[in-house]
Amino acid sequence: MKQLMARFLAVLAFCLALPAFAAPLASVSSPDNSLTVSFDIDSDGRINYSVTRKGQPLINPSKMGFLLQDSFAMVRGFGFVSQEARSGEENWEQPWGERRYIRAQYNELLVRFQQKEDFKRLMNVRVRVFNDGLGFRYEIPDQPNLKVMKIAEELTEFAIAQPGTAWWINGGEWNREEQIYQKTPIDAVSTAYSPITMRLNDGTHLSFHEAAIVDYSGYWFKRQDGQTFRTMLAPSGRDAKVIRETPFWTPWRTIRIADSAAGLVENNLELNLNEPNKIGDVSWFKPHKYIGIWWGMITGKWTWASGPNHGATTERAKQYIDFAAKYGFKSVLIEGWNKGWDGNWFGHGYYSFTEAYPDFYLKAVTDYARKKGVRLIGHHETGGNIANYEAQLDDAMKLYASVGVNAVKTGYVADAGGLIAPGDKPGDMVMEWHDGQRSSVHHLKVVETAAKYHIAINAHEPVKDSGLRRTYPNWIGREGARGMEYNAWGQYANSPDHEPTLVYTRMLAGPMDFTPGVLSLTGANGVHMASTLAKQLGLYLALYSPIQMAADFPEQLVKYPRELDFITKVPADWSESHLIAGEVGDYAVFARKDRNSDNWYVGGVNDADPRTVTAKLDFLDAGRTYTATIYRDGPDADYRTDKRHSIAYETRKVKKGDVIDVRMAPAGGFAVRIAAGR
Ligand code: NOJ
Ligand code: CA
Repeated sequence: MKQLMARFLAVLAFCLALPAFAAPLASVSSPDNSLTVSFDIDSDGRINYSVTRKGQPLINPSKMGFLLQDSFAMVRGFGFVSQEARSGEENWEQPWGERRYIRAQYNELLVRFQQKEDFKRLMNVRVRVFNDGLGFRYEIPDQPNLKVMKIAEELTEFAIAQPGTAWWINGGEWNREEQIYQKTPIDAVSTAYSPITMRLNDGTHLSFHEAAIVDYSGYWFKRQDGQTFRTMLAPSGRDAKVIRETPFWTPWRTIRIADSAAGLVENNLELNLNEPNKIGDVSWFKPHKYIGIWWGMITGKWTWASGPNHGATTERAKQYIDFAAKYGFKSVLIEGWNKGWDGNWFGHGYYSFTEAYPDFYLKAVTDYARKKGVRLIGHHETGGNIANYEAQLDDAMKLYASVGVNAVKTGYVADAGGLIAPGDKPGDMVMEWHDGQRSSVHHLKVVETAAKYHIAINAHEPVKDSGLRRTYPNWIGREGARGMEYNAWGQYANSPDHEPTLVYTRMLAGPMDFTPGVLSLTGANGVHMASTLAKQLGLYLALYSPIQMAADFPEQLVKYPRELDFITKVPADWSESHLIAGEVGDYAVFARKDRNSDNWYVGGVNDADPRTVTAKLDFLDAGRTYTATIYRDGPDADYRTDKRHSIAYETRKVKKGDVIDVRMAPAGGFAVRIAAGR
């Protein structure tokens, strides 16, 4: 007994001797307890957060706060006010997407802080911790001394605890996100767009991004020193980067956390942090494949502008509609039918969105399309002149709705920082960034206006994707990365590892209108792209979009009847999607189940190193026979030789538990259709 008492006293003495900072001010763990986020305040009153995973540091103490344009910073002098915890669980259904059902389970903590001086301003932080990631946001309450917050900079740090490798593109680059990814040590990143992907030396995979950019600037991931980064908000042409009336909250700052590349990909963090559908039923939009009067302009054969080589003529539109109807493409994108492309349209266009060139008659084309069971995908290139577009927005959408167009591709071709708002005349123009607050407001205005007319939006040169498709499911896709179009413009313009890098970087943000399906593998002036024929099919499985293009000229597509057959059959809407093999930047193989049948599809893309992958068909239903049609690189396929079109076909019966071994060539890929028997 005496001994026990002595031991008890010793333990008590030890606990009392522990330094006061050992227990955090506030903390919350994931439902499975693997992740813990803690908050503290240092001796200067600076708030910091940190993250541990399985007890090990993942994010070291990282500071939080804001620089204001017109007042003292909201960085120092904070004290703790109170905290409030809750848990959330939700099962919800996507109207379309990579998977039908999504489950969210998290623990949440709201921590309230107040500056002791400096106008006694209030600032709250809400964090949600899931088993595979976390998000936190600032919530600024309504308060007497902060009615309008003019944010000069958001100073949210991310101090990454371990060395590793990063895959990233330069933030604030003139060509926006349309860049080849760099692979460097984490401490060699400069300023990057998000999402940015990292693999730490212990194998932990991370993706830093954000969710729900609403009336706020997107951030760039800026290195301060070593492995410590901070948010750098996209600049603004006005006096502050973000101007908001209180109360408001910021987008969620998100970190996906996984043991493997697959754990990053099969992760719904940003969607789960967005609000549920606000626009109601979107069954008027059906995922599908499309063709377009497009590659002809991209390769320079035709023009968007009027003239002898004008691409968008009524006659050519009808030919494309005939082709679409014959092969089962549900829509045809037509660019360059409207006035505004003559002269210097790049970067400061004054388009009309309702007036056609004389050789294009919109109503005749849409009437013809309707008869053939095909729709048009409309096009609104703005040249970055959002003022000019907003002035015509309602009329533009009304016109398309009146002729049965229910999807519109928008475009913001302008150098980064070259969006024009709010006026369209020299003197009252303000230049804005594609990821700036003004742009985020603009895009939602377009999406909400389009929703009124039952029109879906696919934005090129967009604000970055932050999962808002959950709230606005008519926002079906974006570009926001280097797409197929770069393969038209130079020898091997996109590197062989570009697409297997996109899968683990840009694609984590959401669907991309990459525009696969250039079966000729040929860009402008006969240049070759870094792809085999089979890789073009693999792209339909690797890069998800609810609208997938077959980008090549129809006369090229028909030269490859078996591949064309695959493209017309492959779904653009899935009930399940799994990354069954892959590593960041090297290769990616998916198994996806059709949302409208019991058929499965397997396939993917490879970088420059040939490799053999084994697809285990564990996901098939037991006791059922399926027919697998395999499209794989031929044994001699090589994108650097005249064998880039070499492809092998095989059809065989398969069942649950079987394996399919496939060798992918350099810059190769493969695709398998697995049709369920009765
Ligand atoms: C760039 C887009 O990415 C491309 O798809 C489009 O055709 C042109 N801009 C013109 O709008
Ligand atoms: Ca583009």
